[in-house]
Amino acid sequence: MLRVGFLGAGLIATYHSKRLRAGAAHCVRAGVFDPDPGRAERFAAAAGHHVCASEDEVIDGCDAVYVCTWTSEHPRQVAKAIEAGRHVFCEKPLAVDLAGAQAMTAAVGEAGVTNMVGLVLRRSPAFVLARALIADPAAGPVMSVVFRDDQFIPIQGHYDSTWRADRDRVGAGTLLEHSIHDVDLLRFLIGEVDTVSTMTANHHGHDGIEDVATATLRFQGGALGTLTSVWHDNLARPSLRRVEVFCARRHVVVTGDDWDGPVRWTDADGTTGSRHGPPLADAAAALLGGDGPNADAAFVAAASVGATVQPDFATALAAHRIVAAMYESAAAGGAPCQVGAPITAG
Ligand SMILES: NC(=O)c1ccc[n+]([C@@H]2O[C@H](COP(=O)([O-])OP(=O)(O)OC[C@H]3O[C@@H](n4cnc5c(N)ncnc54)[C@H](O)[C@@H]3O)[C@@H](O)[C@H]2O)c1
Repeated sequence: MLRVGFLGAGLIATYHSKRLRAGAAHCVRAGVFDPDPGRAERFAAAAGHHVCASEDEVIDGCDAVYVCTWTSEHPRQVAKAIEAGRHVFCEKPLAVDLAGAQAMTAAVGEAGVTNMVGLVLRRSPAFVLARALIADPAAGPVMSVVFRDDQFIPIQGHYDSTWRADRDRVGAGTLLEHSIHDVDLLRFLIGEVDTVSTMTANHHGHDGIEDVATATLRFQGGALGTLTSVWHDNLARPSLRRVEVFCARRHVVVTGDDWDGPVRWTDADGTTGSRHGPPLADAAAALLGGDGPNADAAFVAAASVGATVQPDFATALAAHRIVAAMYESAAAGGAPCQVGAPITAG
């Protein structure tokens, strides 16, 4: 049995707690700490944790810790946890900047603890099936991808918090805070990114918090793509993605729900397909194998035996590198920027 503690008792901590209940049989609920005592108490009561007076008390009393605090707290809390030898699940983004993400990834590697990051869409049935359809040799090479992600700026509604308007705690806007998921999915679906060209805009006026980002990407495999990420005020659109992939002989679209699709495709011979709901879950389960779509269950299973699990910090770091190149490009007015290399355009 693995004793699991929580740092932070907000929105995403609650999500993970529910997923643990749904799928992680070998999990014992340990401490939770949140400087907002009301949140900590509600979380503890709902999930069977006990409220701790400090983050040290949580770390001392568990085998694995979930770091679900606002982003600026992640590096310090992860460092404390691994110093104590704890396995760590850290929410995305790992840190507010690339240097922080690099240091955290190096540290978990040296400590040899099980580490996972909250890039949970890698286990979404919709994206798992889309990836298989794209990788199928019958589809031919990927030529292009159009990725659109829009949500209402998450300082209102069910988010019940405003820290995402504070650059010191969130680091930046929609590109880092939200679309690091999209950048990771683009790697997951299409492959490594070579060069990016990005522009950003700020309509809401929160300092350092861009609410629109558009990026053009060139992939190492030769595909070209675009990412559009928007934080608007249309509360009827809480968070929606549409991903359209053009292979030479297959067109694949993921739309609707991030998890349940539908996923639709059309082949060169006119064959069409569509999956959503239980048939999609079944198709993805076969592709995921024993690991399944529940990231929290996979984390507990891996941490119980000190094994590795995906997506880990190294996977997150690869997405951070692309995001950092996008910001570098945006700072240079959209000049092309090679991923992992200093900008060269004049
Ligand atoms: N994977 C996903 O899809 C996903 C979704 C939402 C949020 N997130 C990420 O999860 C993190 C938290 O986001 P959220 O939406 O849950 O925010 P939230 O505001 O709902 O919860 C964060 C909680 O952390 C607490 N906190 C702050 N400093 C702390 C500290 N030092 N120790 C303990 N608790 C502390 C706050 O009081 C708050 O209750 C962010 O990094 C965010 O980017 C990921």
